Amino acid sequence: MTAAPPRPRLVELDGRDLADRLAEALTVYVTAMGYPPSTARQRRTLWLEHVDRPGWRAVGWLDQAGPLLGIAYGYDGAPGQWWYEEVRRGLRRAGNPAWTNDYFELTELHVRPDAQGAGLGEGLLRALLAGTGRGHVLLSTPEHGPRPPGRAWRLYRRLGFRDVLRQHLFSGDSRPFAVLGRGLPLPRPEDRADVRTHAPA
Ligand SMILES: CC(C)(COP(=O)(O)OP(=O)(O)OC[C@H]1O[C@@H](n2cnc3c(N)ncnc32)[C@H](O)[C@@H]1OP(=O)(O)O)[C@@H](O)C(=O)NCCC(=O)NCCS
Repeated sequence: MTAAPPRPRLVELDGRDLADRLAEALTVYVTAMGYPPSTARQRRTLWLEHVDRPGWRAVGWLDQAGPLLGIAYGYDGAPGQWWYEEVRRGLRRAGNPAWTNDYFELTELHVRPDAQGAGLGEGLLRALLAGTGRGHVLLSTPEHGPRPPGRAWRLYRRLGFRDVLRQHLFSGDSRPFAVLGRGLPLPRPEDRADVRTHAPA
């Protein structure tokens, strides 16, 4: 009889853990996003700076041998942060600035391409958002364009994220983004059917 393959472990990462695994985490990020390796070098300082922000939390999946299969982190949104100010600008224009009160920003969520499609992303999101103590979560993700929504969109919709801003342009980036959000805490997985934002086809 062959043994079942070892299951990856979901772990909470502190700032030191992230610093120790930063190269691995950034490799997961660039491969998941399809960015060139040089992007990882550009992001190093930013990711380490984020560790010091109030409410910063990170979780990751480790496989048996140790390498990181997925990473997610975020922190409390607050005035003065670049992302807060950019989203607030869009929300003011849309006449709905209340979303920026009391929110946790989901900053990064990535699973290595060879480990995608098995629920690891949802596991990261649930673990990260379980301990924020905030009333809402907000995130930004590229608009999906004419193609069917990709895995990230499906995950967010499945977990009840709704549109906060669409076609939002962040300063210095020509790609339109959606800002999505929902109240916290998330419903338990067994209640999933109740949180769909669109009726199933
Ligand atoms: C978005 C991302 C993090 C999602 O991670 P993931 O592990 O692939 O996604 P999920 O947790 O949703 O699981 C994927 C699929 O497994 C299924 N699944 C969920 N639990 C499962 C389980 N226990 N066993 C098997 N399959 C399961 C889901 O139904 C889902 O199906 P679908 O994608 O066909 O709808 C990942 O695809 C990724 O890194 N993408 C590129 C980077 C990116 O876009 N990041 C977000 C930027 S905003």
